[in-house]
Amino acid sequence: MPEISLTHTAAHARHGSNIGQPLTRRDGLLKVKGEARYAADNHPPGMLHAVLAVSSIARGRVKSLDVAAAKRHPGVVEVMTSANRPPLAEDPDAKTNPFMFRMELLQNDSVRYANQPIAVVIAETLEAATEGAALLSPQYEVLPARVGLDAGESFVPPAVGIGNPAVIERGDVGAGLAAASKRIEATYETPAQYHNAMEPHAIVVAWNGDTLSIDTPSQGLAMAQGRIAGLFGISPDKIHIRSPFLGGGFGSKGLVSGPQVLGILAARLVGRPVKLVLRREHMYGPVGHRSASRQKLRIGVDGDGLLTAIDHHAKIATSTFDDFYEPAADASHTLYASPAIATSHEAVRIDTGTPLFMRAPGEATGSIALESAIDEAAWACRLDPLAFRLKNYAEVEPISGKPFSSKALRECYAQGAERFGWSKRPLAPRQLRDEAGLLVGWGIGTATFPALMFQAEARAVVRSDGSGVMETGAHDMGQGAWTALAQIAADGLGLDLEQVEFKAGTSDLPDAGIAGGSAHTATAGMAIHNAGSAVIAKLADLATGDEHSPLFGAGNAGVVARDGRLFRRDDETRSESYVDILGRAGLAQVEARGKAAVDPAAQANYAMHAHGAVFAEVKVDPDLGQIRVTRLVGAFAAGRVINPHLVRSQIYGGMIWGMSFALHEQAITDRRSGRIINANLAEYHVPVNADVPSMEALMIEEHDPHVNALGIKGVGEIGITGSAGAIANAVWHATGVRVRRFPIPIEELV
Ligand code: MOS
Repeated sequence: MPEISLTHTAAHARHGSNIGQPLTRRDGLLKVKGEARYAADNHPPGMLHAVLAVSSIARGRVKSLDVAAAKRHPGVVEVMTSANRPPLAEDPDAKTNPFMFRMELLQNDSVRYANQPIAVVIAETLEAATEGAALLSPQYEVLPARVGLDAGESFVPPAVGIGNPAVIERGDVGAGLAAASKRIEATYETPAQYHNAMEPHAIVVAWNGDTLSIDTPSQGLAMAQGRIAGLFGISPDKIHIRSPFLGGGFGSKGLVSGPQVLGILAARLVGRPVKLVLRREHMYGPVGHRSASRQKLRIGVDGDGLLTAIDHHAKIATSTFDDFYEPAADASHTLYASPAIATSHEAVRIDTGTPLFMRAPGEATGSIALESAIDEAAWACRLDPLAFRLKNYAEVEPISGKPFSSKALRECYAQGAERFGWSKRPLAPRQLRDEAGLLVGWGIGTATFPALMFQAEARAVVRSDGSGVMETGAHDMGQGAWTALAQIAADGLGLDLEQVEFKAGTSDLPDAGIAGGSAHTATAGMAIHNAGSAVIAKLADLATGDEHSPLFGAGNAGVVARDGRLFRRDDETRSESYVDILGRAGLAQVEARGKAAVDPAAQANYAMHAHGAVFAEVKVDPDLGQIRVTRLVGAFAAGRVINPHLVRSQIYGGMIWGMSFALHEQAITDRRSGRIINANLAEYHVPVNADVPSMEALMIEEHDPHVNALGIKGVGEIGITGSAGAIANAVWHATGVRVRRFPIPIEELV
């Protein structure tokens, strides 16, 4: 592994001993022993239980609630409704930046979606609170629910995602399509999906005067702290949030949600600590979801099999009262070289909870449509779908014309194809059968996800006993951040992992940014790396400026740190330990802070993305249409790998989400009531182990000098983008039937 050179501090630690090691996750033992304390495991003295009552209609208003009946139930302490909810300093419907999620905090009696909180029952026990909520017998004034993508007026949203233009055209798509010798025009539909983290949203909260003590899972501690501070009109430093472990988030814990704030309000109302944990069915509404989409793709190809145009239009749903629009069509910006590309979004407001970032928001939804359409175009030209993708390989980012900061996608295609045995694939569909007579199909999908980075800060300490501390409010959602970030910390401090105390997971530590956009390792990791460099520079100043040190006169640039010592670069026999440096200086410790920040010049000059290629084999029962994925091979290039063990697990998770997108997941809304009819894990299907018989993820070496000094691109979400399309394309190859509705309904195959 090459040494990273830093431009901003001269002295620094040498990499190699910790970064890149396949270490077992440090939280694993705690989790299997049941010793990892999740938010809902906390029980402060005097704690009460709060349970939401939610709306069973999707649109209208609450006429009445039988609060008296609920309060008569033994154990019920209080019922919070819009009549007695404590005041807030800020309107929950106010929005001054795109990261403010509008919430139902009992501000009035209106109902905007099914499962909207309409009251909170607070009781001595969970059972009493649950029973109290059931006794409220709400009466409604019901208005017809607007369900589905054709239910509301459609319009062009002002922006999509976190502020991308909703409509973009580069080149002349009309001319490109007119000049094409083959044209594909197809419409794909994707369903609403719900995050369904294993751990539901939960909060345990205690007020001490105007200070708040909170245990709650969060993917963005500092943002949650800021949002709560605004709503309650208190200073952020009075809010202490602990989030050491999350049982998954997938985007739904990126912004603090309404139910979490209702827990804080409930504690204020009763003047005692309160625990509020969402029931599984209550997660289908107030905490975000992926909206349904209908995507129309038009693709033109010339006589040589080269793309002449891609036109990707996405119609997407959002709520009636907030503005998250999933940027599905933007998936067509990056992957395939085409002289003309147009992407456009059309939105529709329906009676649903507001959608939110969910597992590659935009990229996943758009990718399954784009990868299917590219496959259709390849077949129209009677070209192998991998050969077609290579013919149209983007050497520069098509939409911007910028060079890629690095792109090892060719190697991903080559190594993935080799491993899978792709060269034996018959071109035409419905050619392969197994010994039992099942139809066998092979498909490919390309994966891509932007290499993002946000702002973060970390604090590093080296103590006079030679040990180190690294602090940053990072989030471990189950992905292994605790371990990977501690590896970066140890290397940054020039110490072994055991000598570093790594602290994360609370809002009292420096802001580690949001654990989202697959950017957490890059973001928190760069803050850690820079804090490490800064504290090493202080040690170097102490040593090289002291005539009693063997490093005297070497200059800050003339030393390097490893194994708890500073070494002279020009003569490594001369070194001094951190213990000796601090001891002679009479210091108990030195400390320094470091920040992660995006390099604007690199951003302006390069397109930054991770890439991958996924190959899928499916077997389809010719009589029943039953689909089984029998093999998935993915090859991914995502810059520097901090911990290959954890990265492979992340990629596996992403690939399983892709399988889920293609074949399993969907929320079904009843058209009459506007209610989701499968709001539970029995009927909302996700893959289980039996659905995933064989999966391989190869990591392709990639050095990226531009994304950040550590060369990290991120791996959290990319797996979903290639896998969903690969499986859909394999189903076509098995059956000859092109299904454009997901999850693929088996009745369309026979
Ligand atoms: Mo992710 S959807 O950015 O948690």
